[in-house]
Amino acid sequence: MIVSNPVPLDISYVPQKLFFRDDKIAAIRSSVLAPSSSGISNNIIIHGDSGTGKTSTVKFLMRDSKSIIYENALSFKNVKALLEHVLSRLGKPVSYRGLSFPDIFSTLNSVISFRGNTVLVIDEATNLLKSDTDGLYNLFRASEIYGTSLSTILISMENPFSYMDRKYGTVVELKFNKYSGSEIYRIISERAALSLEDGAYTDSILKYISEISAPVGSARFAIELLQKAAYMAEYRLSDSIENDDVRSAVSLINPYITESKLSLLDRRELLVLLSICSLLSDKLSVDVHTVENQVKLTGESYSIDIKKAEMYRIIRKLESMDIVSSTIQGRGNRSGVSKHVSINDVPVSILSIKIRDIIARL
Ligand SMILES: Nc1ncnc2c1ncn2[C@@H]1O[C@H](COP(=O)(O)OP(=O)(O)OP(=O)(O)O)[C@@H](O)[C@H]1O
Ligand SMILES: [Mg+2]
Repeated sequence: MIVSNPVPLDISYVPQKLFFRDDKIAAIRSSVLAPSSSGISNNIIIHGDSGTGKTSTVKFLMRDSKSIIYENALSFKNVKALLEHVLSRLGKPVSYRGLSFPDIFSTLNSVISFRGNTVLVIDEATNLLKSDTDGLYNLFRASEIYGTSLSTILISMENPFSYMDRKYGTVVELKFNKYSGSEIYRIISERAALSLEDGAYTDSILKYISEISAPVGSARFAIELLQKAAYMAEYRLSDSIENDDVRSAVSLINPYITESKLSLLDRRELLVLLSICSLLSDKLSVDVHTVENQVKLTGESYSIDIKKAEMYRIIRKLESMDIVSSTIQGRGNRSGVSKHVSINDVPVSILSIKIRDIIARL
């Protein structure tokens, strides 16, 4: 068994500890939550790429702040519909659709006078920010126009400050940056410890997942990889997660690969790719000198002879097609650096089968 507790691998799980976001938590507390509790309404827009912890940070704050109401904009066609829903959640169901903003806010005022100052979080608000300027105007200026003690936290993947109208008044900007590889490693180490059997994973598997996720900078992507790789290993009835489980997970999330790309390669190119695959079954990357030897060996069984220059040309082509990636690494002695190639987004075991198949048909 690999997974002992599936909950922390679920994408909606809000962890007890949020790493690397103390400054954001403090910024939201000081710019919105603290002023709100003393009667001052402020508005803030949180933006940043997917998986940078925007939703979990506000959910984390909701644990000890009862004044926050959370809504997802995707369920509503505009601000008015969203506010009508908020009213009904607060015990004031709207009897007919199409209330005016003054009606909505005066009803809200009567609820808030009992409930106390309220902070409304609107998640996934990218489209709302673009499409409902009138609604946002009313929402952001509700305290001036209608005397409503309401602060708003909007969450968006895109940065709206480049196109947003000045008429909204002062809106605080809070940007969530992408996570680095080592930050992602910290986050998934915690999740792995909470959800997986002790011997089911190694540090190098977690490092591998972090490395693949680093260019995206997304904790969401990394946790999804960990989850899918874990179930992949469980499905194989294995006791532990292997590199190929991670590659399978990537290919599940990113299923753009192979058949069509492989069909663009000729026999000689396929043979170089097959050689790389066979070297990667127990390694994450391999240097090109090793590939050169393997190409000779594999070539013999297919009676294909590929010289060094041609092999380099083929590897460059495979890189340009995003089938393999490469890094330059030191060799650990005086002989300088060498190029290492890797395949990260498809299991090499499956790729090898496909390639052998195609070569046999050519
Ligand atoms: N700093 C962190 N510490 C621990 N876990 C984190 C952290 N940041 C994100 N996560 C986890 O990563 C996953 C994705 O985070 P979250 O949903 O908050 O991202 P998001 O910025 O809202 O992404 P999206 O824009 O796609 O909605 C969640 O499971 C969350 O618990
Ligand atoms: Mg989110």
